[in-house]
Amino acid sequence: MNKIIRKQQLTPETALFEVEAPRIAKRWKPGQFIIVRPNAGSERIPLTLVDGNKERGTITIVVQRIGKTSAVTVATPADGAFHDVVGPLGEPAHITSVGKVTLLAGGVGVAEVLPVAKAFKEAGNYTVVLAGARTDSLRILREELLAVADEVIWATDDGSFGFAGNVVQLLQDVVKASGEKPDLSHVIGPIPMMRAAAKATKDLGIKTYASVNPVMIDGTGMCGGCRVTVRGKVRFACVEGPEFDAHEVDFEELTRRTKAYKKQEVQAYEAHKCALGLQAH
Ligand SMILES: Cc1cc2nc3c(=O)[nH]c(=O)nc-3n(C[C@H](O)[C@H](O)[C@H](O)COP(=O)(O)OP(=O)(O)OC[C@H]3O[C@@H](n4cnc5c(N)ncnc54)[C@H](O)[C@@H]3O)c2cc1C
Ligand code: FES
Repeated sequence: MNKIIRKQQLTPETALFEVEAPRIAKRWKPGQFIIVRPNAGSERIPLTLVDGNKERGTITIVVQRIGKTSAVTVATPADGAFHDVVGPLGEPAHITSVGKVTLLAGGVGVAEVLPVAKAFKEAGNYTVVLAGARTDSLRILREELLAVADEVIWATDDGSFGFAGNVVQLLQDVVKASGEKPDLSHVIGPIPMMRAAAKATKDLGIKTYASVNPVMIDGTGMCGGCRVTVRGKVRFACVEGPEFDAHEVDFEELTRRTKAYKKQEVQAYEAHKCALGLQAH
């Protein structure tokens, strides 16, 4: 069991947890993830490591309610515990010193980009985070982003705060207005956003890494569930990723594969919604 030390509800759908996990806290690197089983009977879900504190022996994760198991995770009380946590898994992010790095993050990706942005800054880069939310009230971790990046520019889909539009349009706007492009870009968020970011940055000639999120099962390279085609070659995102060259990822296939169990996922969520006391969203 991994005891919860702190829980903070960031939005109605998203919660931050600081969890006791001393061995993971000692070894983790930005870009890596863990697999959590919130209770004995639940599925295992991959979640990015947002922070790790060796002295406190804790790790921090941010979870968004999407389906059944993420809903169970978000609903875990502040004085509770997760049944088990495995990690750190995956390869760390490619952190290099290149000059100016722009990091694009959407939705819960804003939390996932925090450690990567911090690492790029510590490596001597000028870091600009382009952070996206559906609306002003759903913006998360505003102070935390400002603490790790040189610049943070927000975009909201409905224009209620900052740039009106998504982060990909924001990047295009920033590059056009300044006449300058970053030396490197990093993108993390929903698949349609990463796909659009990959296309836009390819057109602009900006080298870009994407942290992809296929369905994962064992997280150790044995089941093949997380297969992603990168430059025409099958790669296992759990052990070879989750970060790949965004211009080489087959996002069409990734989209198809993550939708493969949609019907069963909806059925599982509907069946458990009443028991959890949740509303449809
Ligand atoms: C490396 C990695 C890091 C991630 N980091 C975070 C994070 O920090 N915070 C966060 O909120 N979410 C993160 N996710 C996504 C999270 O794992 C899924 O939202 C979760 O597994 C959904 O499970 P569910 O039972 O709630 O939903 P389901 O009903 O099972 O699925 C709903 C949708 O979630 C996606 N999904 C389902 N199962 C998985 C799975 N095992 N792995 C990935 N996606 C899945 C599919 O697109 C599916 O259509 C990450 C995924 C990966 C692969
Ligand atoms: S999740 Fe099983 S091989 Fe990657």
